[in-house]
Amino acid sequence: MISVSIQIASYLFASILFILSLGGLSSQESAKRGVWYGIAGMIIAILSTVLGPNISGHIYIVIAIAIASVIGIMVARKVEMTSMPQLVAILHSFVGLAAVLVGFGSYLDPHTHQLTGAAHSIHLVEIFIGVFIGAITFTGSIIAWGKLEGRIRSKPLLYPGRHLVNILLVIVCIILGAVFTMATGTSGMVYLIIMTAIASFIGVMLVMAIGGADMPVVVSMLNSYSGWAAAAAGFMLGNDLLIVTGALVGSSGAILSIIMCEAMNRSFFSVIFGGFGNTPTGSLKAVEGEVTATDHEEVSNLLKEAASVVIVPGYGMAVAKAQFPVYEMVNTLRKADKEVRFGIHPVAGRLPGHMNVLLAEANVPYDIVLEMEEINDDLVETDVVLVIGANDIVNPGAEDDPASPIYGMPVIQVWNAKQVIVMKRSMATGYAGVQNPLFFKENTDMLYGDAKDSVDKINTYLKA
Ligand code: TAP
Repeated sequence: MISVSIQIASYLFASILFILSLGGLSSQESAKRGVWYGIAGMIIAILSTVLGPNISGHIYIVIAIAIASVIGIMVARKVEMTSMPQLVAILHSFVGLAAVLVGFGSYLDPHTHQLTGAAHSIHLVEIFIGVFIGAITFTGSIIAWGKLEGRIRSKPLLYPGRHLVNILLVIVCIILGAVFTMATGTSGMVYLIIMTAIASFIGVMLVMAIGGADMPVVVSMLNSYSGWAAAAAGFMLGNDLLIVTGALVGSSGAILSIIMCEAMNRSFFSVIFGGFGNTPTGSLKAVEGEVTATDHEEVSNLLKEAASVVIVPGYGMAVAKAQFPVYEMVNTLRKADKEVRFGIHPVAGRLPGHMNVLLAEANVPYDIVLEMEEINDDLVETDVVLVIGANDIVNPGAEDDPASPIYGMPVIQVWNAKQVIVMKRSMATGYAGVQNPLFFKENTDMLYGDAKDSVDKINTYLKA
C-alpha cells in the first residue's frame, strides 16, 4: 500500500505523461511515442489508485481488471480499421455509463450524507451534473454507434420544435437539480432518476438529429462529453487525476470538433445542436453528362505517360485494404521519375486521420502526403488524379449545389486535373448518400472493381 503523498506524486507524474501523450499524437512521427506515454500514464494511474489509501477488496478489483483487459485485447485485435469509429463510440458510452453509476453510488454512499452545509450541497451538485452529462454521453454514444454501424438510419431525424423541446427538458432538469440539492438524506433519489431518464432522452434526440457528413463531429463531440463525464466522476470521487484526465479529454475533444467543423465549413453550434439552421432546401441539381468506364491497362498507360500524379484515397481504400499495393504503385511510379503525391481530406474515411494511419501502416513517406489545402491549388497542373475508394470528399456538389446535404463542405477539387480515374465497385453513393456529379464529367473515367484488386492489376501492367 502507498501513502497519500506518494499517490499525489504518482498522479502528478501520470498527468504529465498524459499531456506528453496528447502532444505526441499531434504528428505522425511522434504518434507511437505518444501512445507509449499514454500506456505508461494509465498503468501508473491504475496502480496508484488501487494501491492507495482507503481501498479495500483488491482481489475483486484485480479480477475485474483481468476480465476487462482480456475483453479489451480481444476486441482490439479483432476490430477492422473501418470499424474503429463504432468502437470509439461504444467506448464513450461506457464512460458515460460509468459516470452515471458513480453518481448513483456516490449518492447512496453514507459518507455523502455525513457532509454538512456547503460541502454537502456542492457534492450533490457534482453528483447531479455528473449523472446528467454521463446519461447524455451514454445514450448519445449508443445512437452514434448504431448510426456508424448502419443499424440506425444515418439521415438526421429532424422534427419541428425539437430545439424548443430540448431547451424545455434542460430547464426541467435544472428545476429537478434545485429540488434534489435541497432534499434530505437519500429522499432526492426520485429526482435523480427522473433527471437521468430525461438526460438519456436528450442524448438520443441530440444525436438522432445529426447525421450524414456531420457524424465525424458527433464522434469527437461525444469524445469530449465522455471527458467531461470522467471529470465529473473525478469530482464525485474526490480523485484529482480523474479530474485532470477528464478535462484533458474533454477539452481536446472539443478542440478537435471545432477543427473538424472548420475543415467542413460547418458551424460548431449548428452541428452539436442537431443541424440547427443548416437543413438543406430544394432538390438536388440534375446531373449532366455521361459516365465513361476504363480498364486497368488503359489506366497503367495513362500513368506511364503522366509526369505528375495525385492519389486521393477514401473509405473504400480502407475497406479494400489497398494501401499496400498503392504504396507499391507509388514506388514504381517514383522510380520512373514521376511526381506522386497524396491529397488527404480531413474527413476522408470514417475517423480523424484514418487515411494517414493507413498510409503510415504501408510505409508511405510523410513528405508526399499533403493536406487538402496544400494540394488543391496544384491540381490544375496535375496530369492524372487517382481517386481510390473516395466519394463525398471529391463531390463538386459540395461547392455548387445548395440542396446537397454536404453543401459548404470544402472538397478536393480533383475535377481540375487533366484526367481523373475513380476506382470504386459501382455507381453507389458514399456516406452522405448523395450522387456524385464528378463521375459524369468529361475528364473522369470510372475503373470499377475492388480497389485492391484494381491497383494490383495496374501494378502488373506497370511492371510489364
Ligand atoms: P465515402 O463518401 O463514404 O465513399 C466511399 C466509397 O468507397 C463508396 O462510394 C464506395 O463505392 C467505395 N468503396 C467501398 N468499398 C470499396 C472497395 N472495396 N473498393 C473500392 N471502392 C470501395 O468515403 P469518403 O470519400 O472517404 O468520405 C468520407 C465520408 O464519411 C464523408 O461523408 C464524411 O463526412 C463521413 N464520415 C467521416 C468520418 C471521419 S472522422 N473521417 C466519420 C464518419 C463519417 P462502391 O460501393 O461503389 O464501391
